[in-house]
Amino acid sequence: MDKVQSNQLDMARKIEKRGILEIPIEHRPVYHLSSPVGWMNDPNGFSIYQKDYHLFFQYHPFSNTWGPMHWGHCKSKDLIRWEYLPIAMSPDESYDEGGCYSGSAIEVEGKHVLIYTGVIDQYLEDGLHDYRQVQCMAKGDGLNYYKYKGNPIIMGDSLPEGSSTKDFRDPKIWKEGEHYYLVVGSLSDTNDGQVLLYQSDNLEQWKFLTVLDQSKGKYGKMWECPDFFPLGDKQILLVSPQDMRAKGYEFHNGNNSIFIYGYYDKSVHQFEREKVTSADYGLDFYAPQTLQTADGRRIMIGWMQSWDAKLTNNFLNWSGMMTLPRELVLKEGRIYQSPVQELKKYHKNKIEYIGRKITQTTALEGISGRVIDLQVDITEFDFHHFSIRFAYSEEYEMLLQYNHLRKCLTIDRTYSGLVRDVVCRRKIVVEPYVSKIQGEVLNLRLLLDRYSVEVFVNEGEKVMSSVFHTPMESDGIIFDTDGSACINVIKYDICI
Ligand code: FRU
Repeated sequence: MDKVQSNQLDMARKIEKRGILEIPIEHRPVYHLSSPVGWMNDPNGFSIYQKDYHLFFQYHPFSNTWGPMHWGHCKSKDLIRWEYLPIAMSPDESYDEGGCYSGSAIEVEGKHVLIYTGVIDQYLEDGLHDYRQVQCMAKGDGLNYYKYKGNPIIMGDSLPEGSSTKDFRDPKIWKEGEHYYLVVGSLSDTNDGQVLLYQSDNLEQWKFLTVLDQSKGKYGKMWECPDFFPLGDKQILLVSPQDMRAKGYEFHNGNNSIFIYGYYDKSVHQFEREKVTSADYGLDFYAPQTLQTADGRRIMIGWMQSWDAKLTNNFLNWSGMMTLPRELVLKEGRIYQSPVQELKKYHKNKIEYIGRKITQTTALEGISGRVIDLQVDITEFDFHHFSIRFAYSEEYEMLLQYNHLRKCLTIDRTYSGLVRDVVCRRKIVVEPYVSKIQGEVLNLRLLLDRYSVEVFVNEGEKVMSSVFHTPMESDGIIFDTDGSACINVIKYDICI
């Protein structure tokens, strides 16, 4: 028999229910999932259960800061409109009282199975401190979840020699043939991040198979939140390393999320790394997770926040939101990302300009707003700099600027209304591409949703995500250049 739910969970659910009602809907993003109340970090258990999309998340409903981790919960029919459900798990067992950390979910014989990391953080009778991370299971019906009585299901004794029992977390499960597999993040005693592969026939007993890949001093230290999936003719290992060092414009200091492209030989469980790129080049993106839809699309969702520059607006009673779910496609050896096609259903009030010359500071009638899908194609490049200022007013602005000489695109939130000295600028190198219809084009698609922007460049070749807390009245959009540019613009409001 599985465990019954605890008073602790009941309490947290009550506080959550009350808190949600107190937050005015206008204080939230419209089409991005935001924390119901209090703090949210990583997406967890992104899965399909009984035909609905379910998403759980790292959650501390009691304050706007990180605290003992619960699993918040919501579901959706189309990956855009999310319905909040009661908290799924609270840290109420001896093996997870330090927190129910990140994990994943899978549907098995009518049940929704959650696999997550329990943090053991306790003082023993002899006064010694016991801190460990172990892997645990819970099962539910899409609403209520019960922790497995045999927890933990994977403990430190299964780890390969020289692996930490303290940094061993974030299992991602899938089924292949007759077997279940999971990848889990781990730290070696040489301070290398690594991803471990486990196998099971029954979800209860797990066998360690192999170390799939390691940072080897190059890609940070602890590897958090691994995911492992085929895409086109490649196999992708997606991980979020801590403590990375910046490299050109590809990686930044601190926590990054990276795609490791490679080949996987299933018969011997060997992964061969080919190349590594960033998953997102903006200021706020971490701990992404993927699922495969019924029609075969690989969809990724990430936490749109950064650990080192946590931007929380004091007037909001929630902190933390997710990116829009993005479809991943392998094209010419690179992962392209695009907002899930379901977003199109919510496009309203189309405004379009074709072949508009820009030679000075220009506002285009009808092009403004904070909840919009804005596409700008630059088709003539007679300039050094071309800028789009959005969430713009006399006092505030978010800036996207293309330097044509250096082929460099910058996102800058310096004047977005920040009062903390946090990182404000990121750059990418990106070249116009040649389109059969338009000739040379630099394609920019900005998804704005009140307090965030996701910039998809060249049909998703690179993406930059950032949150900002500019007052809502700043909703202007201004184009500017030091030379002459020609642009095509399409704007939709997004109405949910
Ligand atoms: C990543 C992470 C995970 C962990 C969770 C704790 O952001 O540190 O490794 O499971 O957050 O909230």
